[in-house]
Amino acid sequence: MKENIVYFEKPGKQNTDETLRLAVDRAKQLEIKYLVVASSTGETAKKALEVAEGINLVVVTYHTGFVGVGKDSMSQEAEEFLKQNGVRVVRQSHILSGLERSISRKLGGVSRTEAIAEALRSLFGHGLKVCIEITIMAADGGAIPIEEVVAVGGRSRGADTAIVVLPAHMNNFFDMQVKEIICMPREKR
Ligand SMILES: Cc1cc2nc3c(=O)[nH]c(=O)nc-3n(C[C@H](O)[C@H](O)[C@H](O)COP(=O)(O)O)c2cc1C
Repeated sequence: MKENIVYFEKPGKQNTDETLRLAVDRAKQLEIKYLVVASSTGETAKKALEVAEGINLVVVTYHTGFVGVGKDSMSQEAEEFLKQNGVRVVRQSHILSGLERSISRKLGGVSRTEAIAEALRSLFGHGLKVCIEITIMAADGGAIPIEEVVAVGGRSRGADTAIVVLPAHMNNFFDMQVKEIICMPREKR
């Protein structure tokens, strides 16, 4: 099987529109029913909504408290707008840091979970690590079934990476399979 992968020169938000377009195109070709997109503020989610016609859009956002105690990264207005347009918004603990982050911060060292996250980030880029993490979060939130989905992540803001992935739950991480890389930045830092 021969398929195209698009490589962006550098990671970052400037690749958002192209990433979303490629993600939706590939989802349609494969008759994939779910598009899982990382969105902190709702900006990337709104862009995804504009192009994701005919696909169930699942938006995964930062857990409450990530940007400050009791605070959400996505405004209530943005979340309401997404929900009214049929988007499922998932907000829950981050799988690839979890409680372990508190222990590392307080006591030092690094957990096995954080080592997995860092390996994914360093070797494949932040966007791919995010794709893996949000897919598990979406599965654990009951927002997607365990069947192939397209996941989209980026570097801090926006999107620059899209993959086709077979999801798994947090307690079956090694059942997960990255089936295809649709696009990613060639330079990871
Ligand atoms: C659960 C979660 C984890 C994330 N982890 C990272 C990360 O490790 N590195 C990174 O550069 N961006 C990370 N992001 C940011 C996303 O990749 C994406 O760029 C961002 O959520 C888009 O937000 P926007 O809609 O405000 O543009 C994460 C986002 C979420 C929701």
